Amino acid sequence: MAFYHFPGSSAVVGALLLATFLVGAVDRAGCFSFNYSTFEKANESDFTLYNSYIILGAIQVTPDVTKEDYLANQSGRALFKRPFRLRNNTSFSSTFVLNISNKTNPGGEGLAFILTGSTDLPPSSHGQWLGIVNQATNGTAKAQIVAVEFDTRKSYPEDLDDNHVGLNVNSINSITQKNLSLKLSIGKDVTVKVEYDGGVLKVFVEENASTPVISEPIDLSTYLPEKIYVGFSASTGNEIELNCVRSWEFDGLDIYEEKSLVWVWITVPSVVFLSVTIALLYWRCTREDEGRVEDDDDPEVELQIQGSSMAPKRFRLKELQAATANFNSKNQLGEGGFGKVYKGVLEKKEVAVKRFSRNSHQGKQDFIAEVTTIGNLHHKNLVKLAGWCYERSELLLVYEFMPNKSLDKLIFSNQKQSTETNPIALDWEKRHSIIRGVAQALDYLHNGCQDRVLHRDIKTSNIMLDSEFNARLGDFGLARTIHPNDQTHHSTQVLAGTHGYMAPESFHNSRATVETDVYAFGVLLLEVVCARKPGTQSMENDYNNSIVDWVWAHHRRDRLFEVVDFRLNGDFNREQVECVLMLALACCHPNPYERPSMRTALRVLTGEVDPPLIPFDKPVFMWPATAPPSFNEDLEYCSVSGGQMTPLSELSGR
Ligand SMILES: *[C@@H]1O[C@H](CO)[C@@H](O)[C@H](O)[C@H]1NC(C)=O
Ligand SMILES: *[C@@H]1O[C@H](CO)[C@@H](O)[C@H](O)[C@H]1NC(C)=O
Ligand SMILES: *[C@@H]1O[C@H](CO)[C@@H](O)[C@H](O)[C@H]1NC(C)=O
Ligand SMILES: *[C@@H]1O[C@H](CO)[C@@H](O)[C@H](O)[C@H]1NC(C)=O
Ligand SMILES: *[C@@H]1O[C@H](CO)[C@@H](O)[C@H](O)[C@H]1NC(C)=O
Ligand SMILES: *[C@@H]1O[C@H](CO)[C@@H](O)[C@H](O)[C@H]1NC(C)=O
Ligand SMILES: *[C@@H]1O[C@H](CO)[C@@H](O)[C@H](O)[C@H]1NC(C)=O
Ligand SMILES: *[C@@H]1O[C@H](CO)[C@@H](O)[C@H](O)[C@H]1NC(C)=O
Ligand SMILES: *[C@@H]1O[C@H](CO)[C@@H](O)[C@H](O)[C@H]1NC(C)=O
Ligand SMILES: *[C@@H]1O[C@H](CO)[C@@H](O)[C@H](O)[C@H]1NC(C)=O
Repeated sequence: MAFYHFPGSSAVVGALLLATFLVGAVDRAGCFSFNYSTFEKANESDFTLYNSYIILGAIQVTPDVTKEDYLANQSGRALFKRPFRLRNNTSFSSTFVLNISNKTNPGGEGLAFILTGSTDLPPSSHGQWLGIVNQATNGTAKAQIVAVEFDTRKSYPEDLDDNHVGLNVNSINSITQKNLSLKLSIGKDVTVKVEYDGGVLKVFVEENASTPVISEPIDLSTYLPEKIYVGFSASTGNEIELNCVRSWEFDGLDIYEEKSLVWVWITVPSVVFLSVTIALLYWRCTREDEGRVEDDDDPEVELQIQGSSMAPKRFRLKELQAATANFNSKNQLGEGGFGKVYKGVLEKKEVAVKRFSRNSHQGKQDFIAEVTTIGNLHHKNLVKLAGWCYERSELLLVYEFMPNKSLDKLIFSNQKQSTETNPIALDWEKRHSIIRGVAQALDYLHNGCQDRVLHRDIKTSNIMLDSEFNARLGDFGLARTIHPNDQTHHSTQVLAGTHGYMAPESFHNSRATVETDVYAFGVLLLEVVCARKPGTQSMENDYNNSIVDWVWAHHRRDRLFEVVDFRLNGDFNREQVECVLMLALACCHPNPYERPSMRTALRVLTGEVDPPLIPFDKPVFMWPATAPPSFNEDLEYCSVSGGQMTPLSELSGR
């Protein structure tokens, strides 16, 4: 452990034992149940909603809006946010009330109760797919889904009729199906009960409460992983209907406790914090004979770091001095506002050591932010923090060494010279893969880790390149963790960042949000494609970001390809370049609510969804920005139909 040098380590061991015991106790806890007799806006945070909303006391699993053309070809999912643990002998019982009301004659397409290993809505799962699978996952084990479908349209020959219940396993074709005498899609409440016990799945529909319509032996654990989500999916096609769930009772499965997550996050850090406090007190009494640490060292720093879970390794100053030849200027790799970075060799590995300027309060804050945020994060597109050191007022961070330096160095190298004498360092393929890597890292920070992390300083000089030119996002000095139970859980109120990368609204509300990170990402994309620096030297107007305006002006004149870095010599995939530029402009939309989420941006880059359509004239910046009626920060899924990006977070603004 990192605090091996404290005499109080036995207290730490004790604490860990206690924490282990607590985790075990939770693991053995009994089953879980909930009962929503109606759905309220306030219940929204209990669900992961994809293209679905809580309005009018119900979950609308596909949108319920007045514009009818908008209701066609939609799919949605509403899952209970907490995962469940599926065991061999699992049993559960769930009762829900559906109200499906047709808007065409007949309506379409249907709704399903689902158990699934995936929290995502499969793209293009509208129409016949009922939000259950899509063309790619249909019939494959990777779909990881068992569904009870309430199908209101006969969409392919195997469908019995336009009013049946079926049991589907990883496929849209049912392993068994039954037609009903009561009509499902006429806007009436239909009570359904799904029961799983003794390895048999039974479905009861209110018309016959004593005899199940479906009773099928099935071993759920053959098709589903141990960690599953339960909820509903639905779709519309050319025929449309409103698919709502008016109440939902669920009883039986165990909540899936991520062993190292929920409880460890709470207990271990607090117990460790206590032990470290004790250890520190003890150590302060006995440190005369150590004599290594000077009086001005601030135990707060150590407490804050050690108090954070999974703190990275602590190094001694002596080790780092030896590794860098006592911070010899020959080993200096770079310099920034924070201090200097040196190359070193530690435990036979090359490392980069960041040495903060002495005694600045800001430096200390950045240092703590960096250790406690990236210390907890693990992703292939993030720079790894190997350890830290705080001794004799020296603040030092140790990273793995990135042989290919930072992205700006490559993009702006040899810019003035002709391509003949200087072969380009970064061809289009590498640039595209770097962009994708950055998008993956940001999607992970925003949507993929325990707490949402805002980076707040996305720029080319903070993107490092490893030996294979993979992008690694670094410099978390300004990063902030946003805890989901905070009221303002997607923003933090400190203006920070680098000029040229800052979204127009940040000058008004001084807030960092996921949208301001997305804006900076958009600027970065433009920089990588155009090899031009963002921002103007003469800053008359903060809202104008020269690179964004410049590219938008080319777009207006339909001369988009003229902005591309001339050193590429026309050697690039035009479709990809256009896609990246359109995405970049969408990310730099003056209205933060119109920007795509990082999840959507990533999907555009991987070709899963089409790039957004961008108006020829840059929309004017207005403050305060108004959210489209549809905006909801939690529902960041966007669907793309006919090349047009539509935010699907309808009617659920907060
Ligand atoms: C749904 O939200 C309402 C209002 O906050 C609350 O009273 C109710 O208990 C919630 N329902 C469930 C099942 O949590
Ligand atoms: C769920 O709530 C409804 C309405 O409050 C009630 O009638 C029903 O009995 C409850 N179910 C359970 C299992 O508690
Ligand atoms: C729905 O999608 C199908 C193809 O999947 C398309 O033919 C049809 O025109 C779409 N309908 C609407 C109303 O967009
Ligand atoms: C679960 O089932 C598998 C195979 O059917 C079996 O190997 C395993 O021992 C069972 N586990 C428990 C806890 O019953
Ligand atoms: C499932 O099996 C385990 C081990 O055999 C047992 O401890 C547990 O009580 C069983 N659970 C149910 C719901 O039957
Ligand atoms: C809904 O379906 C019924 C027949 O089941 C039909 O009479 C009615 O016109 C349909 N509603 C709409 C809006 O098309
Ligand atoms: C979906 O998968 C099933 C196999 O599970 C296959 O029989 C069926 O043809 C597929 N449907 C479509 C539309 O591809
Ligand atoms: C189900 O379909 C069969 C054959 O089409 C029909 O004979 C039967 O009456 C239907 N049953 C119900 C309950 O609609
Ligand atoms: C079912 O939904 C329709 C359309 O939203 C609504 O008109 C109807 O009143 C609902 N039925 C019940 C029983 O609430
Ligand atoms: C319920 O289902 C059973 C078996 O299919 C049938 O005998 C009985 O008549 C049904 N009851 C009603 C009310 O439909």
